[in-house]
Amino acid sequence: MNKIGIIGAMEEEVAILKDKMTDVSVLERAGMEFFSGRLSGHEAVVVRSGIGKVNAGICTQILADKFAVEAVINTGIAGSLKAEINIGDIVLSTDTMQHDVDAREFGYDIGQIPRMDTQAFQADEGLRKLAVEVCRRVNPEIQVFEGRVASGDQFVADRDTKEKIIQNTEGLCTEMEGAAIGQAAYLNKIPYLVIRAISDKADDSAHMDYPAFEKEAIRHTVNLVENMMKEL
Ligand code: ADE
Repeated sequence: MNKIGIIGAMEEEVAILKDKMTDVSVLERAGMEFFSGRLSGHEAVVVRSGIGKVNAGICTQILADKFAVEAVINTGIAGSLKAEINIGDIVLSTDTMQHDVDAREFGYDIGQIPRMDTQAFQADEGLRKLAVEVCRRVNPEIQVFEGRVASGDQFVADRDTKEKIIQNTEGLCTEMEGAAIGQAAYLNKIPYLVIRAISDKADDSAHMDYPAFEKEAIRHTVNLVENMMKEL
């Protein structure tokens, strides 16, 4: 894979990666600044998409059209949907699903966009396997999990919503962009992977934990992405 697009929703999630880049040039599109250059010696475009599925989908499309990236990595933080997945741990997507898409009235499964042929968007297995191996090596103090990432335009911070998302998606974590990137990558036939570090438990404590653990969680994803780039 030559050129890799790296998307973070928030500046905090990509700032350190941008700082580590060399040979940088910046292009602005749709209110987003695309930093092209080298990360760990590998060609990369790092960008802050903004929060939510629409921003993430637009950002991925620009990476495909304007930069012809050969893969997309989404890095950031997420709320855990499983008791054993702790704050600071990392989740790698096997696939992504939109927990807030609901056309069951017309016989579709929850998460399935009407008249699309898939309910969840398969992530790239090769990227995931590499990420697991690198993560165990560079972040040995945390656990790494592989499974579904559930995305929606909602910060999940109560037990009932969390339970509903678990029942509907069987996801390991919840965030606000991954499945939109998955959908755009699927439509453009580009391999992708979502890498999320857990910042909170997506329950009543989420609003307290999130700011407290955000930095530590981001440190793990940055460490992983930076080292993955050396082996792509
Ligand atoms: N990102 C980090 N924590 C989250 C949560 N609880 N819900 C949605 N997105 C998140």
